[in-house]
Amino acid sequence: MPSTRPPDRAPVVLSIGGSVLVTGTEDAAYLARLADLLRKVGAERALVVTTGGGRSARDYIRIGRDLGLTEYELDELGIDVTRLHARLLAARVGPPTPTDPPTTVREVVKELRHASPVILGGTEPGHTTDGVAALVAVRIRAERVVNATDVDGVYDRDPRTSPGARRIEQMNWSEFRAMVHAGSSGEAGQNFLFDRLGADVLARARIPLLIVPGRDLANLEKALLGRPCRGSRIGEETRAKTA
Ligand code: UTP
Repeated sequence: MPSTRPPDRAPVVLSIGGSVLVTGTEDAAYLARLADLLRKVGAERALVVTTGGGRSARDYIRIGRDLGLTEYELDELGIDVTRLHARLLAARVGPPTPTDPPTTVREVVKELRHASPVILGGTEPGHTTDGVAALVAVRIRAERVVNATDVDGVYDRDPRTSPGARRIEQMNWSEFRAMVHAGSSGEAGQNFLFDRLGADVLARARIPLLIVPGRDLANLEKALLGRPCRGSRIGEETRAKTA
């Protein structure tokens, strides 16, 4: 199979929230344009994309919880929904992107030898697709992780309830990890902006994280290419110091 990636450009990982992929508004048009962008960026460098489960995952997890399923079983339900979103996007991106989403980091590495982008959902119960994105990023020595979400960055207070809330443009890892650890309990279907495991893994590997609004594709492209963009940047100073 032909190679689609020149070896001289560092890999990038994108974690895209389910709440960005499927909103109930213009989803097919958005997914078609997103697929075009991923194909374009993926042809220039190794690109791995993880897709979240969003509202659909939470709906199934809520029903499963009412049925008395264990947290492990609820995570498995969530994983299946994330994989459904990966399949939807991968099918639109087309070959050489595999339409069966890989189920392990090892499989991602194997697929990446002949395909870019590689698109997957969750892997193991106990974390989220942000965590998967971080583990993949460390394994493939990614230059950065971009988290495309339904807000336009990290705020000093909740922007939905505090009108004076301000977006934080830059943070270091210890500030961000303190926020993540305070904001999530680790239960199935529950998450604060970025997964705890993901934040810990990226901080240790000193891989910077960008949190950007996922529906703004022009901005997302800039984030993927490492150009100035709207959003919050985490851990870039550490990277500069150690580079
Ligand atoms: P998501 O990655 O979608 O979590 O996985 P999320 O926090 O709800 O993210 P958004 O809303 O899409 O941005 C959905 C659920 O699937 C399970 C977890 O229960 C998670 O909350 N999951 C997912 C896993 O257990 N392991 C995985 O690797 C991925």
